[in-house]
Amino acid sequence: MNDLDSLLTLLTPEGRALLDEVRDTDPARELAVATRLRRTHPAGLVSAALGQARLRQRAVAKFGAEDAGRMLFTPNGVEQSTRASVAAYRAGRLAALGVGSVADLCCGIGGDAIALARAGIRVLAVDRDPATAAAARANADALGLSGLIEVREADVTEVDTGAYDAVFVDPARRGGRGRIFDPEAYSPPLSWAVEAARTASRAAALKVAPGIPHEAMPEDAEAEWISDGGDVKEAVLWFGTGASAGAVRATLLPGPRTLPGSGLPDPAVRTPGRYLYEPDGAVIRAHLVAEVAEQVGGGLLDATIAYVTADELRPTPYATAYEITDRMPFNVKKLKALLRERGVGTLTVKKRGSAVEPEELRRKVKPQGPNAATVFMTRVAGAPTMLIGHPAR
Ligand SMILES: C[S@@+](CC[C@H](N)C(=O)[O-])C[C@H]1O[C@@H](n2cnc3c(N)ncnc32)[C@H](O)[C@@H]1O
Repeated sequence: MNDLDSLLTLLTPEGRALLDEVRDTDPARELAVATRLRRTHPAGLVSAALGQARLRQRAVAKFGAEDAGRMLFTPNGVEQSTRASVAAYRAGRLAALGVGSVADLCCGIGGDAIALARAGIRVLAVDRDPATAAAARANADALGLSGLIEVREADVTEVDTGAYDAVFVDPARRGGRGRIFDPEAYSPPLSWAVEAARTASRAAALKVAPGIPHEAMPEDAEAEWISDGGDVKEAVLWFGTGASAGAVRATLLPGPRTLPGSGLPDPAVRTPGRYLYEPDGAVIRAHLVAEVAEQVGGGLLDATIAYVTADELRPTPYATAYEITDRMPFNVKKLKALLRERGVGTLTVKKRGSAVEPEELRRKVKPQGPNAATVFMTRVAGAPTMLIGHPAR
């Protein structure tokens, strides 16, 4: 059965009942459950239900157990969807601009459309893939949002968005051969999405990969990098009302906490101080390490590496602070001896600008003892260096 047929069969009364029955199937028991169910149900329906139960389990991390347990997914749809926390943040930003309706171009299974509707925004959700569009429609129904979400199966390049306040585009960034890095190879290409954003009547937002080169950013857009729980999730290009052209910011969820760029030059390299600050990934991607260095009164350990060093502990949400107790040139034997002397059994390995494999290092130094430590494998003014310490209190 293809993805569309699987979804359609799960939407029948028999499909819905079976989906409820297999809801909490332990993956280890799947074969036995399938054999039993095939005695009373068509084999295609049984495998669709078990497959869907697996997709729902994968979706819990993005949507939470309650919503994921009511939604329907396709394998690509769950992979490519925006997690609820990020979608809610973006939807909140649009709602705060007074946006009442959005054309969600490339809606997938509806991750963003759901968040927009929950923010009180009317949504036209468009996807050209029939199974994906069917899932988006089923999800709007299942979550009681079909009054606000109209799902249309169509090519976004053929949709007139003139009647909507805002446009949101989340192009597909995966092809048959995996992740796509060239923004012009997105579907639809970034240049098309930018033109669609520019014609939006009030505002527009384009979701792009967080690794997008800064040079690829259009000059009339504001670029925002978003992380959730310390993991960078995406970059968004904002256009129109509320977006300051050329501005850059990093937003950390939960929160949100937003660090705006202030155009500072790169921080100077200085001698290592007592504290090392590891900036959040969104700060690094947004090139705002200088803003963090200014906040903590610090400089860089190395001109090419995003570790900030400072003498004082100045708490900031944009970086994690560590107190450094030891510094030595890269030498695994010396590290092993130091950790033994300190009774370190729990070793966290962090690295930037070093080819060391954390797992391999841990194997080599065989940490043993009641204490914990963090080692940074990095460079200090070009020299391979180990900095040992612990999260600052
Ligand atoms: C990254 S996913 C969207 C995920 C969605 N924002 C969510 O949170 O669930 C991209 C979607 O774009 C759709 N797509 C790609 N090119 C398209 C086009 N030209 N017209 C309509 N849909 C398209 C794909 O089918 C895919 O579902």
